[in-house]
Amino acid sequence: MSANRGPRAGSEGATRAPDLAGVPLSAVLPALQRIEPHARACWAYDLDALERRARRFQSAFAALSPLVAYALKANVLPALIERARGAGLGAESGSIGELVIAARAGFGAAARVLNGNGRTLEEAAWAAREGVALVNADSIAELDVLQSAAAREGSTLRVALRVNPGIETPGHRYVSTGGEQAKFGIAAGDALEAWAARARWPQLALDGVHLHVGSQLAEPAPLARSLEVAVELAEESARRAAPLSLVNLGGGFGVDYGAGAEFPLEAWARRLAERTRRLNFSWVLEPGRWMVAPVGVLIAEVLWVKRRGDRSFVVLAAGMNDLIRPALYRAAHRIVPLEPREGAPERVTVVGPVCESADVFAEDVVLPPLRRGDAVALLDAGAYGASMSSNYNGRGRLAEVVASAGRLRRARAGETAEDLARRDTDDALPPGPVT
Ligand SMILES: Cc1ncc(COP(=O)(O)O)c(C=O)c1O
Repeated sequence: MSANRGPRAGSEGATRAPDLAGVPLSAVLPALQRIEPHARACWAYDLDALERRARRFQSAFAALSPLVAYALKANVLPALIERARGAGLGAESGSIGELVIAARAGFGAAARVLNGNGRTLEEAAWAAREGVALVNADSIAELDVLQSAAAREGSTLRVALRVNPGIETPGHRYVSTGGEQAKFGIAAGDALEAWAARARWPQLALDGVHLHVGSQLAEPAPLARSLEVAVELAEESARRAAPLSLVNLGGGFGVDYGAGAEFPLEAWARRLAERTRRLNFSWVLEPGRWMVAPVGVLIAEVLWVKRRGDRSFVVLAAGMNDLIRPALYRAAHRIVPLEPREGAPERVTVVGPVCESADVFAEDVVLPPLRRGDAVALLDAGAYGASMSSNYNGRGRLAEVVASAGRLRRARAGETAEDLARRDTDDALPPGPVT
């Protein structure tokens, strides 16, 4: 997406809509409506911008030669992740569903990382059978499950233990994952004991440490601290005759949603390279948001402008079921009219059509005048947007459009009311014991 942006929407004024790989954003919804006449909102992604970001990330960290495993949870659209693969990224999966999607999109075993704190037998069996570069284990008990799965397949799984370093990160507590209260990771002492006892799991190459302390980090201090934790653990493990050879520092690199603070990627990469120059590890990084947030937008028509007393509500055709980040994390996305009208800016609250008071995208922001039938874009919506969307309120998930070299394609159709009924059944469940 071209960086054609002005100031943040709000009291300082409105931003102008960026274009999408050479296509004006205002052209996207009308183009989609030619094949989905009822579409009033959609996602749109700039694949050329994604490729540029993927290359920029890899070039920043080139000194470490890491496996850059893009976190699929941020956005799992096949057209998008195929482009990421083509640009050299691997894929971090948090479930068997994401593993299968990764494999279908062409990510080979050497490019796949399996994560998650609720390991299932099915995931372990899949990883042992189809192969992955790395499993990040979230408990010691999980090692037995991985060992059995690998033994059954006669394969070996490389495993990193996710350690909870007790590092709190700034921002919403729901995106802080390395603090004492977080459900993720094991105690450092337990990890050290497991590494020292690695002979108990002969089918596992248990030689890695994994830390992922949080998301939307604006500065590298929490990552620098988690790096020191990893290095100290590796040194201590080596003293116990169980050297480590892999460090996975997770993701968390923040993007600028309009407040002006973007994670200093290159500066951190240089610092990391300098600090680790004499350390002989394989490295894994798992960026999600940084890779895709800025390359996507949520486009929505204005359904209504309602005035009540001195308040104005702009009701969009997209709601919290589409983009839940504002409701879940109180996240703010810049909102820009696609074809701004002349006239004095107005103070409005931008909401969705869902029957929840939390269905608010922006409260009391100043935008150019909007009228019924206009369209707006919510910027930087490429990460944790479509992938977190739901059918709440009987609403079909939106179509997803990709742009590259001036051309648009619909990469995923919008869901209709008929689609919503497709999983409904009236199946008799056989009596008898559960097997
Ligand atoms: C283990 C792990 N790695 C990577 C990521 C990606 O994080 P981000 O999108 O902040 O880069 C997440 C996100 O939750 C995660 O849980």
